[in-house]
Amino acid sequence: MTSIVVLGSGLAGLRAAEVFREKNFQGKITLVGVEPQLPYNRPPLSKQFLAGEWDEDRVRLRLPAEFHSLDLDFLKGIKVVGLDLEQRSVQLSQGTAIDFDGLVIATGAENRQLPALEGRPRVFTLRTLTEALALRQALSSAESLLIVGGGFIGAEVAATAHGLGIRVCIVEPQQTLMFRGLGKEVGSAMTNLHREKGIDVRCNTEISHVHDDGERTNIELSDRTTHTPDVILVGIGATPTTDWLSGSNVHLSNGVVCDENCRVMTADGVAVKSVVAAGDVARWFSRSQNRLVRSEHWTNAQDQAVNAAHTLLLDLNGEGGDALPYDPVPYVWSDQFGKKIQAIGFIDPADKVRIVKGALSDGKFLAIMERENRFVGAIGVAMVPLVMQARILLTEGASLDVAREKLAS
Ligand code: NAI
Repeated sequence: MTSIVVLGSGLAGLRAAEVFREKNFQGKITLVGVEPQLPYNRPPLSKQFLAGEWDEDRVRLRLPAEFHSLDLDFLKGIKVVGLDLEQRSVQLSQGTAIDFDGLVIATGAENRQLPALEGRPRVFTLRTLTEALALRQALSSAESLLIVGGGFIGAEVAATAHGLGIRVCIVEPQQTLMFRGLGKEVGSAMTNLHREKGIDVRCNTEISHVHDDGERTNIELSDRTTHTPDVILVGIGATPTTDWLSGSNVHLSNGVVCDENCRVMTADGVAVKSVVAAGDVARWFSRSQNRLVRSEHWTNAQDQAVNAAHTLLLDLNGEGGDALPYDPVPYVWSDQFGKKIQAIGFIDPADKVRIVKGALSDGKFLAIMERENRFVGAIGVAMVPLVMQARILLTEGASLDVAREKLAS
């Protein structure tokens, strides 16, 4: 019987498995996931779930009956530790190996750790449901929270904790919150929004000294203030989970390098048939950008898994040809203080920003991004219909003039 192994039971892994069944793949599918739960949705973990508004059932990606109807061999709580591309087999943490005809690598990313804070009292990270449960529990009796890192996790958790009545301080070495994803102008507007709400945002600031007494952790900052909060959250970015691939001849470079159809490349530059990657771990060749790109966001995990699964099935069926190249217009959203923040396109903090609707100071605006006189992206805060229009224009390849005219009218 033909068999497909899917590594990673997050959104990308689940979607790939679903596509195989939707396309009537009748062989065996093994889904390997390091986490103990059925696949769940990460976006609510820093928002509704952390706030205690949603329970575990509500963050599931699929109802148990729907999931079981996929007829997967689900190996949960198990880690993949190696890949032999020649033998077409993967090695698992409990010492067994599984052979495959087709393989999906969707092992995601893991949070970066800050050595100075690792293992200290009251220090948390947030990526998994298990971590979200622990953080939620800690916040339930907390009065103060210090967040190290003002990226997406930091900003979202700050807004949620503030809503729970907790005093929040964010420490961020860059000049604004969410600088990497939103750039300076929009990042500054978001920083102002957080400050207006009462969050103590300290940009251009780093940790200079840490000590603990076994009960609490004390942090001294580069601005010479000291903090002994009830809870500390570290949200300083993520790295693709590829350590298990070292020595496998897979081309690794800030992720698993893939061709434009999500096929995994070897270190010798060969695209491997029926071996694909999707989600946070995949760094694929984008035709429109003419370079390798990677995305650590929900929409990409879902969409890339579909493309990768189609590629894999075409390879397995020996039909030749390719699925359409995977070349999406990226879409990212966040919810903070009741406002929807949406970004489209491959945004670079160096892009020129033009506000075409609203005003940065109002916390309600649409910004379009310009690079070499081209329309390359947009960011909206509390501007949902207009962002959707901008997304269509970007997908159609509209010029800067057309985008400006249509979005400003
Ligand atoms: P991030 O990359 O968004 O932000 C990390 C932040 O930490 C940056 O602002 C960076 O300047 C700062 N930083 C780096 N090193 C630091 C240090 N040593 N001390 C203090 N600050 C430091 O990553 P984040 O927020 O940890 O999120 C993890 C992943 O999850 C990211 O890939 C993110 O895109 C994704 N995510 C996406 C969300 C969304 O799409 N709405 C929501 C939450 C997370």
